[in-house]
Amino acid sequence: MMIKQLMTRLEQASGLDRISDPLQRGLQAVLKPRMLRDALHGVQVGHPLHPALASFTLGSWTSAAVLDALRGQEFPATALVGVGVAGAVPTALAGANDWAELDHEQRRVGLVHLTANVVSVALYSASLAARLKGDHRTGRILGFAAFGVVNVSAFLGGHLAYKQGAQVNQAVSELHRIGDGWHPVADVSALPHGMPVSRNIGEVPVLVYRDGDRVSVLLERCGHETGPLGEGRVVDIDGDACVECPWHGSTFRLKDGLVMHGPAGSDQPILRTRIVNDVVEANLP
Ligand code: FES
Repeated sequence: MMIKQLMTRLEQASGLDRISDPLQRGLQAVLKPRMLRDALHGVQVGHPLHPALASFTLGSWTSAAVLDALRGQEFPATALVGVGVAGAVPTALAGANDWAELDHEQRRVGLVHLTANVVSVALYSASLAARLKGDHRTGRILGFAAFGVVNVSAFLGGHLAYKQGAQVNQAVSELHRIGDGWHPVADVSALPHGMPVSRNIGEVPVLVYRDGDRVSVLLERCGHETGPLGEGRVVDIDGDACVECPWHGSTFRLKDGLVMHGPAGSDQPILRTRIVNDVVEANLP
């Protein structure tokens, strides 16, 4: 109970915005190249990159802690601490890039997560330096302290993802609100060419896009933070029509939902379609 209350207070600690807001602007200015931002968001792999990198880094440090506890494993423990410190660099970059696109409450928790990570990396770096000088006792003590801090940080990261939904595909849950079977969506002859229109399947908004004889139906709420893609502008990327989310600029290819630009790291869910008597029907993927 105490932990839940503490986390609620942290989410509501608006005083942190005095640090968080300028830091967000600074990071957005530094991480300007879109290709870099997309790569760090995991656009090319279709999945946020930060959790995968964090698992690698934390796994190395967990293994080092086990070897430190066993004693007599100085060389592999030192190697694993070094591997973790090296892995922390891309992990931090990917995390900072995701963090800069979060909302206020998420960024407050993320700020403490980020601070704990900086402390743990500093402790692990000092631990590594001590071990390389042959002072394994100091290296172990610093390593255990760092391990404690990084696990607090991991808890905060879990809170961000599973309680606050940061970088989780927010559109997928909409699929569960669509019943089985084929649903009529629109008359094909009434659809404009090359311009998406918003429709509903029950209470679920969808985006219907006609390109010649081909019609695609995507979920309308953006997978990043449920922004209204129906209000987004259509842009051309490599000859394909794409829709750009009006909230944070995630861009999805209209014919198949492929994510072209982040901060969304996942494709926009698309439904199966068929045309029966001039009516587009959609079904779950
Ligand atoms: S809601 Fe953030 S990019 Fe769409």
